[in-house]
Amino acid sequence: MKAIVVERPGSPAEFTWTEVPDPEPAADEVLIDVAATAVNRADLLQAAGHYPPPPGASPILGLECAGTIAQVGADVTGWAVGDQVCALLAGGGYAERVAVPAGQVLPVPAGVDLVHAGGLPEVACTVWSNLVLTAGLRAGQTVLIHGGGSGIGTMAIQVAKARGATVAVTASRAETLDRCRELGADIVIDYRADDFVTALPAANGGRGADVILDVIGAKYLTRNIATLADGGRLVIIGMQGGTTAELDINALMRRRAGVIGTTLRSRPGTGPGSKAEIVAHVRAELWPLVSAGAVRPVIDSVVDLPDAARAHRRVADGGHFGKVVLRVPDAGAPAAGN
Ligand SMILES: NC(=O)c1ccc[n+]([C@@H]2O[C@H](COP(=O)([O-])OP(=O)(O)OC[C@H]3O[C@@H](n4cnc5c(N)ncnc54)[C@H](OP(=O)(O)O)[C@@H]3O)[C@@H](O)[C@H]2O)c1
Repeated sequence: MKAIVVERPGSPAEFTWTEVPDPEPAADEVLIDVAATAVNRADLLQAAGHYPPPPGASPILGLECAGTIAQVGADVTGWAVGDQVCALLAGGGYAERVAVPAGQVLPVPAGVDLVHAGGLPEVACTVWSNLVLTAGLRAGQTVLIHGGGSGIGTMAIQVAKARGATVAVTASRAETLDRCRELGADIVIDYRADDFVTALPAANGGRGADVILDVIGAKYLTRNIATLADGGRLVIIGMQGGTTAELDINALMRRRAGVIGTTLRSRPGTGPGSKAEIVAHVRAELWPLVSAGAVRPVIDSVVDLPDAARAHRRVADGGHFGKVVLRVPDAGAPAAGN
């Protein structure tokens, strides 16, 4: 098969679309003929040489895919050759074929194009696990989502609205803020012009955030805690603003607040807190919302996989809205939207 191989790590990295050995599915895995994968910020870090795959994972980039099952391992039940699926991967998505544990496979939700489904699993699993399973976001609560225009942000806005929350977002461009509002955000904050610590309560009847989904980390820690309502939870899933900061424990205690950090990729495949457990929740609880059209994949653009370097530049430069999908040539609809 062919795959994207990182020829020279860096920012930008140099890629080649070249022949590599086919993956061999284990007894608990299925082999997927990939129609599409998608760019995640983690791919940019891995391509730069800063985010090695977890032990046992494919060294090939790609944390998600959609496609057609080509082979089913001996111990797998519930999936058959020919099923159209999407899957959460620990790696290996930037390729014509990938082997994945059956517990990380999802059906393509009704009404979602197979190519667009390649950009769904990572954001669906990250947002559902953090906003719903970890933070317990409920109707009537306020959530602050940093980076509302990101792949993660566009899914988080919709999930939070579907759960009946008041949604505030930060982003850096007027056009991105407008599109977040169209997607359902109630409060939009330009983080370059305004301080969310004061802007959120000013627009929310004096109330802070019950939940914050944060992708910045150290740079926002103090301000995030200052923005939490009593009993609030700050869930940190990204470190774009650094990894190390001082924590004001007094501010945390006064609010009876919690700070939680999670990563999806490093979770075990099975067992408590695993990828399979999250995938099962997503299938049972989020997929019906997607099939009903209440939550949809937001696709910035579709780029042919051999041109992955261009797709990475699009994400690195910023200004995209939603996911940049990578289509395997001859496997699905023609590239469009970019
Ligand atoms: N822990 C996990 O399991 C997990 C899983 C998936 C993703 N993530 C993390 O989630 C984040 C989003 O991922 P993605 O793939 O969706 O990336 P992406 O589309 O490239 O989005 C990055 C976002 O960060 C925003 N941003 C940058 N600086 C900001 C600031 N100072 N304040 C507020 N927002 C800021 C950008 O907003 P503007 O463009 O408007 O400036 C952009 O929307 C990444 O940090 C990624 O590492 C974590």
